[in-house]
Amino acid sequence: MAEVTNVTEYQAIAKEKLPKMVYDYYASGAEDQWTLAENRNAFSRILFRPRILIDVSKIDMTTTVLGFKISMPIMIAPTAMQKMAHPEGEYATARAASAAGTIMTLSSWATSSVEEVASTGPGIRFFQLYVYKDRNVVAQLVRRAERAGFKAIALTVDTPRLGRREADIKNRFTLPPFLTLKNFEGLDLGKMDKADDSGLASYVAGQIDRTLSWKDVKWLQTITSMPILVKGVLTAEDARIAVQNGAAGIIVSNHGARQLDYVPSTIMALEEVVKGAQGRVPVFLDGGVRRGTDVFKALALGASGIFIGRPVVFSLAAEGEAGVRKVLQMLRDEFELTMALSGCHSISEITRNHIVTEWDAPRALPAPRL
Ligand code: FNR
Repeated sequence: MAEVTNVTEYQAIAKEKLPKMVYDYYASGAEDQWTLAENRNAFSRILFRPRILIDVSKIDMTTTVLGFKISMPIMIAPTAMQKMAHPEGEYATARAASAAGTIMTLSSWATSSVEEVASTGPGIRFFQLYVYKDRNVVAQLVRRAERAGFKAIALTVDTPRLGRREADIKNRFTLPPFLTLKNFEGLDLGKMDKADDSGLASYVAGQIDRTLSWKDVKWLQTITSMPILVKGVLTAEDARIAVQNGAAGIIVSNHGARQLDYVPSTIMALEEVVKGAQGRVPVFLDGGVRRGTDVFKALALGASGIFIGRPVVFSLAAEGEAGVRKVLQMLRDEFELTMALSGCHSISEITRNHIVTEWDAPRALPAPRL
């Protein structure tokens, strides 16, 4: 096999290796998949304004997230059911994140439990929460995550119902019988029935609480001392309300374009959310980040860090833990190079003036002579 030299190349390798049902589940977006393409395309509407003749012999990519020091502003988003990609699944991801000195977010729907992931060794980990109708289930799970040493909750707020992913409907997607949603095993919610459409969509319809609202964000704060990141904010209005309701941070996310189609790309929604948050809480982004230049662009638009989703499952499928390590290393190297070529030696030096976007007002230029 030819050497992998960028993150995107893992997708084709994963497609060859994985059963169609699994690959389609990982790769797909909702409906027309317009937002899926847009999450990538929008990055190409942002160009650099690099500064020159700045000593970039030393580049410091370290940063702090909710008080935790990490090696770079590149973190791992929650993606469900990683053992479908590789037998080591979430263990491999946890070890790779830890080796890279960064944060892994474990999905509620992981095929490894919070305790199992904690047992892989030290590391800073967040827990992604889906709120079930049965609040005892939620309270128990949050308590277990806290006890297992998880440091924050990423509360996913864009999934009162599952988005319409047509490949999953055609494939009658369901969790393979040899796997379970490990966090729910003892709670009798670890299996997913086969349905005559997407098994996951039926599971969500049966178990996930569609009444979820801001009062529940308050309720969560009464059952845990972990800080809460609200994952799935796309507007300034909701950023403001999230801050008012005690969120410790905001993740600008469209769920990897798997929920509502025709929402904007996250990179285009980012700046308005940053304005809405008014500097009171950090704002993060996920969606379509595949290059170090993408990471830089997000930081220039006000993000405190980014998360990657699909690159993790695709590289896991291709090469297990080594693949995830390589993805993190390639993004790190590309981001470092982008900083150097833009004239920034630390994260705090990355500014809005280092980029120009298609939606910026045209600069006042002398009228061209015709
Ligand atoms: C996800 N995502 C997701 N989000 C979440 O809150 N809980 C989850 O269990 C999952 N599961 C999941 C599975 C798969 C296969 C994908 C692709 C995505 C969304 C994820 O956290 C993140 O928002 C996106 O993946 C980011 O976009 P990219 O990096 O995949 O483009």
